[in-house]
Amino acid sequence: MKITIIGAGYVGIVSGTCLSEFGHEVVCVDNDAAKIATLCQGQIPIYEPGLADLVAKNVSGGRLRFTTDLSEAVPRAEAVFIAVGTPSTRRGDGYADLSYIYAAVKELAPYLAGYTVVVDKSTVPIGTARQVSRIIRETNPTADFDVASNPEFLREGAAIGDFMRPDRVVIGVENERAAAVLREIYSPLYLIETPIVVTGIETAELIKYAANAFLAVKISFINEMANICEAVGADAIALAKAIGLDGRIGKKFLHPGPGYGGSCFPKDTVALLRTVQEYGVSARIVESAVEANAAQKARMVKKIRDAVGGSEAGKIIGVLGLTFKPETDDMREAPALTILPALMEKGARIIAHDPQGMKEAAKYLPEGITYVDNPYEVFTGADAIILLTEWNQYRALDLKEVMGRMKSPVFVDLRNVYEPNRLREMGFVYFGNGRG
Ligand code: UDX
Repeated sequence: MKITIIGAGYVGIVSGTCLSEFGHEVVCVDNDAAKIATLCQGQIPIYEPGLADLVAKNVSGGRLRFTTDLSEAVPRAEAVFIAVGTPSTRRGDGYADLSYIYAAVKELAPYLAGYTVVVDKSTVPIGTARQVSRIIRETNPTADFDVASNPEFLREGAAIGDFMRPDRVVIGVENERAAAVLREIYSPLYLIETPIVVTGIETAELIKYAANAFLAVKISFINEMANICEAVGADAIALAKAIGLDGRIGKKFLHPGPGYGGSCFPKDTVALLRTVQEYGVSARIVESAVEANAAQKARMVKKIRDAVGGSEAGKIIGVLGLTFKPETDDMREAPALTILPALMEKGARIIAHDPQGMKEAAKYLPEGITYVDNPYEVFTGADAIILLTEWNQYRALDLKEVMGRMKSPVFVDLRNVYEPNRLREMGFVYFGNGRG
Protein backbone atom coordinates (compact mmCIF):
# COMPACT_ATOMS: atom_id res chain seq x y z
CA MET A 1 0.00 0.00 0.00
CA LYS A 2 1.02 3.59 -0.44
CA ILE A 3 1.55 5.22 2.94
CA THR A 4 2.65 8.71 3.92
CA ILE A 5 3.95 9.57 7.37
CA ILE A 6 3.83 13.17 8.56
CA GLY A 7 6.60 13.88 11.05
CA ALA A 8 10.09 12.38 10.85
CA GLY A 9 10.63 12.24 14.61
CA TYR A 10 11.13 9.13 16.66
CA VAL A 11 7.68 7.60 16.07
CA GLY A 12 7.52 8.72 12.44
CA ILE A 13 10.88 7.31 11.38
CA VAL A 14 10.42 4.02 13.24
CA SER A 15 6.84 3.51 12.02
CA GLY A 16 7.62 4.54 8.44
CA THR A 17 10.67 2.32 8.27
CA CYS A 18 8.91 -0.70 9.74
CA LEU A 19 5.91 -0.24 7.44
CA SER A 20 8.29 -0.17 4.47
CA GLU A 21 9.92 -3.33 5.85
CA PHE A 22 6.42 -4.89 5.74
CA GLY A 23 6.54 -4.16 2.01
CA HIS A 24 4.51 -0.96 1.80
CA GLU A 25 5.66 2.05 -0.20
CA VAL A 26 6.34 4.73 2.39
CA VAL A 27 7.17 8.42 2.17
CA CYS A 28 8.10 10.29 5.37
CA VAL A 29 7.48 14.03 5.33
CA ASP A 30 8.82 16.67 7.66
CA ASN A 31 8.92 20.45 7.36
CA ASP A 32 12.41 20.47 8.90
CA ALA A 33 14.46 20.63 5.69
CA ALA A 34 17.75 20.02 7.50
CA LYS A 35 16.39 16.84 9.09
CA ILE A 36 15.09 15.55 5.75
CA ALA A 37 18.44 16.36 4.10
CA THR A 38 20.20 14.35 6.82
CA LEU A 39 17.83 11.41 6.33
CA CYS A 40 18.26 11.57 2.55
CA GLN A 41 22.01 11.25 3.11
CA GLY A 42 21.39 8.05 5.05
CA GLN A 43 21.99 9.52 8.49
CA ILE A 44 19.48 8.96 11.29
CA PRO A 45 18.94 11.89 13.67
CA ILE A 46 18.14 9.62 16.66
CA TYR A 47 19.84 6.65 18.24
CA GLU A 48 17.72 3.52 18.03
CA PRO A 49 19.34 0.09 17.71
CA GLY A 50 18.90 -1.44 14.26
CA LEU A 51 17.15 1.57 12.78
CA ALA A 52 19.96 2.87 10.57
CA ASP A 53 20.38 -0.53 8.87
CA LEU A 54 16.64 -0.95 8.35
CA VAL A 55 16.34 2.55 6.87
CA ALA A 56 19.26 1.89 4.51
CA LYS A 57 17.80 -1.46 3.45
CA ASN A 58 14.37 -0.07 2.61
CA VAL A 59 15.67 3.11 1.00
CA SER A 60 17.84 1.04 -1.32
CA GLY A 61 14.89 -1.30 -1.92
CA GLY A 62 12.90 1.70 -3.17
CA ARG A 63 10.18 1.33 -0.54
CA LEU A 64 11.15 4.26 1.69
CA ARG A 65 12.01 7.87 1.02
CA PHE A 66 12.03 11.24 2.76
CA THR A 67 10.75 14.60 1.56
CA THR A 68 9.54 18.02 2.68
CA ASP A 69 6.96 18.16 -0.10
CA LEU A 70 3.39 17.46 1.08
CA SER A 71 1.93 18.27 -2.33
CA GLU A 72 3.70 15.23 -3.74
CA ALA A 73 3.53 12.93 -0.70
CA VAL A 74 -0.14 13.25 0.30
CA PRO A 75 -2.16 12.70 -2.94
CA ARG A 76 -0.49 9.31 -3.56
CA ALA A 77 -1.33 7.95 -0.12
CA GLU A 78 -4.07 5.50 0.81
CA ALA A 79 -3.25 6.23 4.44
CA VAL A 80 -1.60 9.30 5.95
CA PHE A 81 -0.18 8.73 9.42
CA ILE A 82 0.25 11.76 11.64
CA ALA A 83 3.30 11.21 13.81
CA VAL A 84 4.26 14.75 14.81
CA GLY A 85 5.23 15.56 18.38
CA THR A 86 2.69 16.27 21.12
CA PRO A 87 4.87 17.76 23.85
CA SER A 88 3.38 19.23 27.00
CA THR A 89 2.42 22.88 26.52
CA ARG A 90 4.93 25.48 27.62
CA ARG A 91 2.44 26.69 30.21
CA GLY A 92 3.59 23.74 32.31
CA ASP A 93 0.00 22.70 33.03
CA GLY A 94 0.39 19.20 31.65
CA TYR A 95 -1.92 19.68 28.66
CA ALA A 96 -0.64 18.15 25.45
CA ASP A 97 0.32 20.76 22.87
CA LEU A 98 -1.71 19.89 19.78
CA SER A 99 -0.65 22.86 17.69
CA TYR A 100 1.81 20.73 15.67
CA ILE A 101 -0.89 18.20 14.84
CA TYR A 102 -3.48 20.77 13.86
CA ALA A 103 -0.96 22.72 11.77
CA ALA A 104 0.09 19.52 9.98
CA VAL A 105 -3.53 18.58 9.29
CA LYS A 106 -4.34 22.03 7.89
CA GLU A 107 -1.34 21.78 5.61
CA LEU A 108 -2.01 18.29 4.35
CA ALA A 109 -5.81 18.54 3.93
CA PRO A 110 -5.81 20.39 0.58
CA TYR A 111 -3.69 17.63 -1.00
CA LEU A 112 -5.92 14.66 -0.10
CA ALA A 113 -6.90 12.87 -3.31
CA GLY A 114 -9.04 9.73 -3.59
CA TYR A 115 -10.23 7.89 -0.47
CA THR A 116 -7.64 8.36 2.29
CA VAL A 117 -7.55 7.30 5.91
CA VAL A 118 -5.90 9.94 8.09
CA VAL A 119 -4.46 8.10 11.06
CA ASP A 120 -3.40 9.60 14.38
CA LYS A 121 -0.27 7.78 15.49
CA SER A 122 0.88 10.47 17.91
CA THR A 123 -0.35 10.14 21.48
CA VAL A 124 -3.23 12.58 21.62
CA PRO A 125 -5.92 13.50 24.12
CA ILE A 126 -9.35 11.99 23.74
CA GLY A 127 -11.31 13.82 21.08
CA THR A 128 -8.33 14.84 18.93
CA ALA A 129 -9.24 12.58 15.99
CA ARG A 130 -12.65 14.27 15.80
CA GLN A 131 -10.93 17.68 15.73
CA VAL A 132 -8.66 16.41 12.96
CA SER A 133 -11.75 15.34 11.03
CA ARG A 134 -13.37 18.75 11.54
CA ILE A 135 -10.25 20.60 10.35
CA ILE A 136 -10.01 18.48 7.21
CA ARG A 137 -13.70 19.01 6.42
CA GLU A 138 -13.33 22.78 6.88
CA THR A 139 -10.12 23.00 4.84
CA ASN A 140 -11.12 20.63 2.06
CA PRO A 141 -14.90 20.10 1.98
CA THR A 142 -14.76 17.67 -0.95
CA ALA A 143 -12.12 15.37 0.52
CA ASP A 144 -13.07 11.68 0.67
CA PHE A 145 -11.54 10.57 3.96
CA ASP A 146 -11.96 8.92 7.33
CA VAL A 147 -9.96 9.51 10.47
CA ALA A 148 -8.59 6.72 12.64
CA SER A 149 -6.57 6.35 15.80
CA ASN A 150 -3.72 3.86 15.79
CA PRO A 151 -1.65 4.46 18.93
CA GLU A 152 1.94 3.28 19.08
CA PHE A 153 3.35 1.26 21.94
CA LEU A 154 7.01 1.61 21.06
CA ARG A 155 9.66 1.42 23.73
CA GLU A 156 12.76 3.46 22.96
CA GLY A 157 15.68 1.11 22.46
CA ALA A 158 13.35 -1.75 21.47
CA ALA A 159 11.12 0.12 19.05
CA ILE A 160 11.76 -1.96 15.95
CA GLY A 161 10.96 -5.22 17.74
CA ASP A 162 7.89 -3.61 19.28
CA PHE A 163 6.65 -2.50 15.85
CA MET A 164 7.49 -5.70 13.99
CA ARG A 165 6.31 -8.07 16.73
CA PRO A 166 3.77 -6.14 18.79
CA ASP A 167 1.68 -7.55 21.64
CA ARG A 168 -1.35 -6.06 19.89
CA VAL A 169 -2.39 -3.47 17.33
CA VAL A 170 -5.13 -1.04 18.30
CA ILE A 171 -7.27 0.43 15.55
CA GLY A 172 -9.86 3.07 16.42
CA VAL A 173 -12.27 3.75 13.57
CA GLU A 174 -15.80 4.88 12.84
CA ASN A 175 -16.57 2.52 9.99
CA GLU A 176 -15.53 -0.71 8.31
CA ARG A 177 -14.12 1.09 5.26
CA ALA A 178 -11.37 2.70 7.34
CA ALA A 179 -10.87 -0.48 9.38
CA ALA A 180 -10.27 -2.44 6.16
CA VAL A 181 -7.43 -0.08 5.12
CA LEU A 182 -5.72 -0.40 8.49
CA ARG A 183 -6.20 -4.17 8.61
CA GLU A 184 -4.55 -4.34 5.20
CA ILE A 185 -1.62 -2.24 6.40
CA TYR A 186 -1.04 -4.55 9.36
CA SER A 187 -1.84 -7.74 7.43
CA PRO A 188 1.84 -8.84 7.49
CA LEU A 189 1.30 -9.40 11.23
CA TYR A 190 -1.39 -12.04 10.67
CA LEU A 191 1.32 -14.60 10.20
CA ILE A 192 2.54 -14.10 13.76
CA GLU A 193 -1.07 -14.01 14.99
CA THR A 194 -0.89 -10.50 16.42
CA PRO A 195 -4.22 -9.60 18.04
CA ILE A 196 -5.82 -6.64 16.29
CA VAL A 197 -8.22 -4.75 18.55
CA VAL A 198 -10.71 -2.72 16.51
CA THR A 199 -12.64 -0.19 18.58
CA GLY A 200 -14.21 3.23 18.37
CA ILE A 201 -11.94 6.23 18.06
CA GLU A 202 -12.25 7.55 21.62
CA THR A 203 -11.57 4.11 23.05
CA ALA A 204 -8.39 3.77 20.99
CA GLU A 205 -7.22 7.19 22.12
CA LEU A 206 -7.86 6.29 25.75
CA ILE A 207 -6.22 2.84 25.44
CA LYS A 208 -2.86 4.48 24.88
CA TYR A 209 -3.18 6.62 28.01
CA ALA A 210 -4.55 3.73 30.05
CA ALA A 211 -1.67 1.43 29.06
CA ASN A 212 1.00 3.98 29.91
CA ALA A 213 -0.75 5.03 33.13
CA PHE A 214 -1.02 1.41 34.24
CA LEU A 215 2.69 0.83 33.64
CA ALA A 216 3.55 4.05 35.48
CA VAL A 217 1.40 2.88 38.39
CA LYS A 218 3.17 -0.49 38.35
CA ILE A 219 6.59 1.17 38.52
CA SER A 220 5.56 3.58 41.27
CA PHE A 221 4.06 0.64 43.16
CA ILE A 222 7.28 -1.38 43.10
CA ASN A 223 9.32 1.71 43.96
CA GLU A 224 7.17 2.25 47.05
CA MET A 225 7.47 -1.44 47.93
CA ALA A 226 11.25 -1.09 47.58
CA ASN A 227 11.20 1.83 49.99
CA ILE A 228 9.15 -0.24 52.42
CA CYS A 229 11.66 -3.09 52.00
CA GLU A 230 14.48 -0.75 52.99
CA ALA A 231 12.56 0.36 56.08
CA VAL A 232 11.71 -3.12 57.32
CA GLY A 233 14.85 -4.94 56.20
CA ALA A 234 13.26 -6.91 53.34
CA ASP A 235 14.44 -7.55 49.79
CA ALA A 236 12.59 -5.96 46.86
CA ILE A 237 14.09 -8.25 44.24
CA ALA A 238 12.74 -11.37 45.94
CA LEU A 239 9.46 -9.57 46.59
CA ALA A 240 9.08 -8.53 42.94
CA LYS A 241 9.90 -12.04 41.78
CA ALA A 242 7.39 -13.62 44.14
CA ILE A 243 4.50 -11.30 43.37
CA GLY A 244 5.36 -11.30 39.66
CA LEU A 245 5.02 -15.08 39.49
CA ASP A 246 1.32 -14.55 40.07
CA GLY A 247 0.06 -14.54 36.48
CA ARG A 248 -2.47 -11.85 37.36
CA ILE A 249 0.34 -9.48 38.36
CA GLY A 250 3.04 -10.47 35.85
CA LYS A 251 6.77 -10.10 36.32
CA LYS A 252 7.48 -7.24 33.92
CA PHE A 253 7.84 -3.62 35.04
CA LEU A 254 8.53 -4.56 38.63
CA HIS A 255 12.12 -3.31 38.76
CA PRO A 256 12.71 -0.71 41.45
CA GLY A 257 14.59 2.30 40.13
CA PRO A 258 15.16 6.03 40.57
CA GLY A 259 11.72 6.85 39.11
CA TYR A 260 10.39 6.52 35.59
CA GLY A 261 11.35 9.06 32.95
CA GLY A 262 11.25 9.33 29.19
CA SER A 263 9.04 10.97 26.64
CA CYS A 264 5.87 9.03 27.47
CA PHE A 265 5.08 8.09 31.06
CA PRO A 266 5.64 11.51 32.68
CA LYS A 267 3.84 13.39 29.91
CA ASP A 268 0.99 10.94 29.34
CA THR A 269 0.10 10.41 33.00
CA VAL A 270 -0.18 14.14 33.57
CA ALA A 271 -2.12 14.65 30.32
CA LEU A 272 -4.55 11.94 31.42
CA LEU A 273 -5.06 13.75 34.72
CA ARG A 274 -5.88 16.94 32.81
CA THR A 275 -8.44 15.10 30.66
CA VAL A 276 -9.96 13.55 33.75
CA GLN A 277 -10.30 16.99 35.35
CA GLU A 278 -12.04 18.34 32.26
CA TYR A 279 -14.59 15.56 32.29
CA GLY A 280 -15.20 15.89 36.02
CA VAL A 281 -14.08 12.36 36.88
CA SER A 282 -11.12 11.24 38.94
CA ALA A 283 -8.01 9.07 38.50
CA ARG A 284 -6.61 9.07 42.01
CA ILE A 285 -4.37 6.08 41.49
CA VAL A 286 -2.66 7.70 38.52
CA GLU A 287 -2.39 10.95 40.47
CA SER A 288 -0.64 9.11 43.29
CA ALA A 289 1.69 7.35 40.86
CA VAL A 290 2.80 10.72 39.51
CA GLU A 291 3.38 12.07 43.01
CA ALA A 292 5.19 8.90 44.07
CA ASN A 293 7.47 9.21 41.05
CA ALA A 294 8.49 12.77 41.92
CA ALA A 295 9.03 11.67 45.52
CA GLN A 296 11.16 8.74 44.33
CA LYS A 297 13.56 11.03 42.49
CA ALA A 298 13.86 13.25 45.58
CA ARG A 299 14.34 10.18 47.75
CA MET A 300 17.29 9.11 45.59
CA VAL A 301 19.05 12.39 46.38
CA LYS A 302 18.63 11.72 50.09
CA LYS A 303 19.79 8.15 49.62
CA ILE A 304 22.99 9.33 47.93
CA ARG A 305 23.50 12.01 50.57
CA ASP A 306 23.18 9.42 53.33
CA ALA A 307 25.53 7.08 51.48
CA VAL A 308 28.29 9.71 51.44
CA GLY A 309 27.92 10.36 55.16
CA GLY A 310 25.17 12.99 55.33
CA SER A 311 26.67 15.76 53.21
CA GLU A 312 27.68 15.80 49.57
CA ALA A 313 29.63 19.07 49.91
CA GLY A 314 33.08 18.67 48.39
CA LYS A 315 32.47 15.02 47.47
CA ILE A 316 33.40 13.62 44.09
CA ILE A 317 30.53 11.52 42.81
CA GLY A 318 30.98 9.31 39.76
CA VAL A 319 27.83 8.66 37.73
CA LEU A 320 27.28 5.70 35.41
CA GLY A 321 24.42 6.36 33.00
CA LEU A 322 22.50 9.56 32.36
CA THR A 323 19.71 8.67 29.93
CA PHE A 324 16.26 7.74 31.28
CA LYS A 325 16.94 4.13 30.31
CA PRO A 326 19.56 2.17 28.34
CA GLU A 327 19.80 1.93 24.54
CA THR A 328 18.73 5.50 23.90
CA ASP A 329 20.31 8.94 23.90
CA ASP A 330 17.05 10.43 25.17
CA MET A 331 17.34 12.60 28.26
CA ARG A 332 13.69 13.63 28.51
CA GLU A 333 12.54 13.49 32.14
CA ALA A 334 15.59 11.39 33.01
CA PRO A 335 16.02 11.04 36.79
CA ALA A 336 19.57 12.39 36.26
CA LEU A 337 18.05 15.78 35.48
CA THR A 338 16.59 16.01 38.99
CA ILE A 339 19.18 14.09 40.98
CA LEU A 340 22.45 15.53 39.67
CA PRO A 341 21.55 19.25 39.96
CA ALA A 342 20.34 18.62 43.54
CA LEU A 343 23.67 17.03 44.44
CA MET A 344 25.63 19.79 42.72
CA GLU A 345 23.66 22.48 44.53
CA LYS A 346 24.96 21.03 47.79
CA GLY A 347 28.53 21.13 46.55
CA ALA A 348 29.11 17.70 44.98
CA ARG A 349 31.44 17.40 41.98
CA ILE A 350 30.07 15.10 39.30
CA ILE A 351 32.06 12.96 36.87
CA ALA A 352 29.72 11.22 34.45
CA HIS A 353 29.69 8.64 31.69
CA ASP A 354 26.94 7.49 29.36
CA PRO A 355 27.47 5.37 26.25
CA GLN A 356 25.12 7.44 24.06
CA GLY A 357 23.61 10.25 26.08
CA MET A 358 26.45 12.62 27.05
CA LYS A 359 25.87 15.07 24.23
CA GLU A 360 22.15 15.32 24.99
CA ALA A 361 22.80 15.38 28.74
CA ALA A 362 25.16 18.33 28.46
CA LYS A 363 22.32 20.36 26.93
CA TYR A 364 20.08 19.95 29.96
CA LEU A 365 22.36 19.45 32.95
CA PRO A 366 24.10 22.34 34.72
CA GLU A 367 27.59 23.28 33.63
CA GLY A 368 30.45 21.95 35.69
CA ILE A 369 29.94 18.22 35.15
CA THR A 370 32.98 16.37 33.83
CA TYR A 371 31.99 13.97 31.04
CA VAL A 372 34.39 11.11 30.34
CA ASP A 373 34.57 8.70 27.40
CA ASN A 374 35.98 5.82 29.39
CA PRO A 375 33.54 4.65 32.10
CA TYR A 376 36.42 3.72 34.42
CA GLU A 377 37.41 7.36 34.64
CA VAL A 378 34.28 8.12 36.68
CA PHE A 379 35.75 6.04 39.51
CA THR A 380 39.04 7.88 39.72
CA GLY A 381 39.25 9.61 43.08
CA ALA A 382 35.49 9.20 43.65
CA ASP A 383 33.94 9.33 47.10
CA ALA A 384 30.96 7.43 45.76
CA ILE A 385 29.62 5.99 42.57
CA ILE A 386 25.99 6.01 41.43
CA LEU A 387 24.73 3.53 38.88
CA LEU A 388 21.81 5.48 37.44
CA THR A 389 21.07 3.76 34.11
CA GLU A 390 21.54 0.02 33.62
CA TRP A 391 23.46 0.00 30.32
CA ASN A 392 24.79 -3.47 29.55
CA GLN A 393 28.37 -2.31 29.63
CA TYR A 394 28.02 -1.46 33.34
CA ARG A 395 26.85 -4.95 34.23
CA ALA A 396 30.23 -6.62 34.23
CA LEU A 397 32.61 -3.94 35.49
CA ASP A 398 36.08 -4.99 36.57
CA LEU A 399 35.28 -4.43 40.23
CA LYS A 400 38.90 -4.74 41.37
CA GLU A 401 39.82 -1.96 39.01
CA VAL A 402 36.82 0.05 40.23
CA MET A 403 37.83 -0.43 43.86
CA GLY A 404 41.44 0.48 43.10
CA ARG A 405 40.47 3.77 41.51
CA MET A 406 37.97 4.99 44.10
CA LYS A 407 38.89 7.18 47.05
CA SER A 408 36.16 5.55 49.07
CA PRO A 409 34.32 2.45 47.77
CA VAL A 410 30.73 3.60 48.20
CA PHE A 411 28.56 2.04 45.49
CA VAL A 412 24.97 3.29 45.12
CA ASP A 413 23.29 0.93 42.68
CA LEU A 414 19.92 2.52 41.93
CA ARG A 415 19.07 -0.19 39.35
CA ASN A 416 20.07 -3.25 41.40
CA VAL A 417 22.50 -4.45 38.76
CA TYR A 418 24.93 -5.98 41.26
CA GLU A 419 24.62 -8.67 43.88
CA PRO A 420 24.87 -6.92 47.28
CA ASN A 421 26.74 -9.69 49.13
CA ARG A 422 29.37 -10.07 46.44
CA LEU A 423 30.18 -6.37 46.49
CA ARG A 424 30.15 -6.19 50.28
CA GLU A 425 32.50 -9.17 50.48
CA MET A 426 34.87 -7.31 48.13
CA GLY A 427 34.86 -4.37 50.54
CA PHE A 428 32.39 -2.05 48.85
CA VAL A 429 29.93 -0.09 50.95
CA TYR A 430 27.01 -1.13 48.77
CA PHE A 431 23.52 0.39 48.62
CA GLY A 432 20.96 -1.21 46.34
CA ASN A 433 17.42 -0.04 45.75
CA GLY A 434 15.01 -1.75 48.14
CA ARG A 435 17.56 -4.22 49.44
CA GLY A 436 17.03 -3.72 53.11
C1 UDX B 1 7.06 3.56 27.22
C2 UDX B 1 6.12 2.36 26.99
O1 UDX B 1 6.76 1.16 27.44
C3 UDX B 1 5.74 2.26 25.55
O2 UDX B 1 4.83 1.19 25.35
C4 UDX B 1 5.08 3.58 25.17
O3 UDX B 1 4.57 3.60 23.90
C5 UDX B 1 6.06 4.73 25.38
O4 UDX B 1 6.45 4.73 26.74
P1 UDX B 1 9.66 4.07 26.95
O5 UDX B 1 9.34 5.39 27.55
O6 UDX B 1 10.51 4.00 25.74
O7 UDX B 1 8.29 3.31 26.56
O8 UDX B 1 10.39 3.20 28.05
P2 UDX B 1 10.08 2.02 29.06
O9 UDX B 1 10.97 0.89 28.75
O10 UDX B 1 8.65 1.73 29.15
O11 UDX B 1 10.60 2.67 30.43
C6 UDX B 1 10.05 3.87 30.93
C7 UDX B 1 10.68 4.27 32.24
O12 UDX B 1 10.31 3.38 33.27
C8 UDX B 1 12.21 4.25 32.23
O13 UDX B 1 12.66 5.40 32.93
C9 UDX B 1 12.57 2.99 32.96
O14 UDX B 1 13.82 3.05 33.59
C10 UDX B 1 11.44 2.92 33.98
N1 UDX B 1 11.19 1.56 34.47
C11 UDX B 1 10.67 0.62 33.63
C12 UDX B 1 11.44 1.25 35.80
O15 UDX B 1 11.91 2.08 36.58
N2 UDX B 1 11.14 0.00 36.23
C13 UDX B 1 10.62 -0.95 35.44
O16 UDX B 1 10.36 -2.07 35.92
C14 UDX B 1 10.38 -0.65 34.08
